[in-house]
Amino acid sequence: MEKVLLIIIALSGLSAVSSHAERQYHFVYEAKNMSEAQRYCREKHTDLATVDSEEVVKLLNDMAGQHNQTQASTDRGKIEFRPWEFGRPSNEHDDQCTYLDSYKTGTWFNYDCNHALQAICFDVTGPNATFVLIESYMTWTDAQSYCREHHTDLASVRNLTENQQIVELVSGGFYWIGLYRDSWKWSDGSNSSFKYWADYKPNYIALKVCVAVAFDNSGKWEDLDCGLKKPFICYGPVVPVSMQVIKVRVQEPNGVDLNDQAFLDAMLVEAKKNLRAQGLDDNVQVAWRKQPDGQVFHKEEEEKKKKRDEL
Ligand SMILES: *[C@@H]1O[C@H](CO)[C@@H](O)[C@H](O)[C@H]1NC(C)=O
Ligand SMILES: *[C@@H]1O[C@H](CO)[C@@H](O)[C@H](O)[C@H]1NC(C)=O
Ligand SMILES: *[C@@H]1O[C@H](CO)[C@@H](O)[C@H](O)[C@H]1NC(C)=O
Ligand SMILES: *[C@@H]1O[C@H](CO)[C@@H](O)[C@H](O)[C@H]1NC(C)=O
Ligand SMILES: *[C@@H]1O[C@H](CO)[C@@H](O)[C@H](O)[C@H]1NC(C)=O
Repeated sequence: MEKVLLIIIALSGLSAVSSHAERQYHFVYEAKNMSEAQRYCREKHTDLATVDSEEVVKLLNDMAGQHNQTQASTDRGKIEFRPWEFGRPSNEHDDQCTYLDSYKTGTWFNYDCNHALQAICFDVTGPNATFVLIESYMTWTDAQSYCREHHTDLASVRNLTENQQIVELVSGGFYWIGLYRDSWKWSDGSNSSFKYWADYKPNYIALKVCVAVAFDNSGKWEDLDCGLKKPFICYGPVVPVSMQVIKVRVQEPNGVDLNDQAFLDAMLVEAKKNLRAQGLDDNVQVAWRKQPDGQVFHKEEEEKKKKRDEL
């Protein structure tokens, strides 16, 4: 199983950017699958976003909140046969291997690979699989070696019919099967162990599993098929921040309350539009600077004019 950590988001609209420490995040709303999104991020920025702390989660949530997002439909892609016991697989870090519980009609549990259990090998001839019970107790890795030496491999179980064949073959007990979990890897190769899974995730339903952030669920993560096209988040180095303060003077306010919040907001939107028209991108932030009294505009005593500051 190949798994790559991909941060995808479900939004529509423009692209947006925000920064955290030495990284700057770029939301791209054009839906792409994992490999296309990765290529795009590597060409235009550094790589797909790495989310390695609560701080980054919060930053991305804030960014997403600014742009009314909708969660795209979650087409789960190809469904593999995985008859997990309810609540499984759990997210326990050590539980990377899978056993079949024949007491429980053959449901599957993820479990620590170092435990010694009996195992099911299989022999494959053409389309047919024959399952073989191995009664000695072995760790998952030892069981895999044993099966590879004496049979085809540890059992792959493709559908309910095959699962039932195993249940009928064995008496009550726990048996290793071939499914195991690779560790997650970030697209940029960083090895942060920070995880922010949603409840009951990952569920490993998809064949090739990538990770998407669900902003309608506090930025929690879900595993999805890497072939699904989703908007995504790249990151790149932060461009140096420079700040400019511009004083604005209004000659004749004509009765308009210049310190009215709605008026101030509207002026900011206008200012940002003008900056964009002049070729500046979303990296530019525009805000009013408040004076110590909390007001933006002040009367210029001698000239009876008002002025406002912009930074
Ligand atoms: C954006 O979200 C706010 C708060 O949920 C809502 O009031 C507003 O109508 C939304 N705007 C659009 C364009 O969906
Ligand atoms: C596969 O199983 C079917 C039904 O049991 C049998 O007819 C067929 O000959 C088997 N094929 C091989 C290649 O063993
Ligand atoms: C289960 O999988 C085997 C192997 O692919 C296939 O021969 C068999 O028809 C499948 N049975 C069902 C019920 O899908
Ligand atoms: C992975 O993490 C360890 C411990 O934090 C660190 O020493 C190592 O350099 C990291 N490796 C990579 C490839 O980032
Ligand atoms: C992603 O899309 C590209 C181009 O459409 C395609 O070649 C590639 O196979 C897709 N990747 C996956 C994992 O589906």
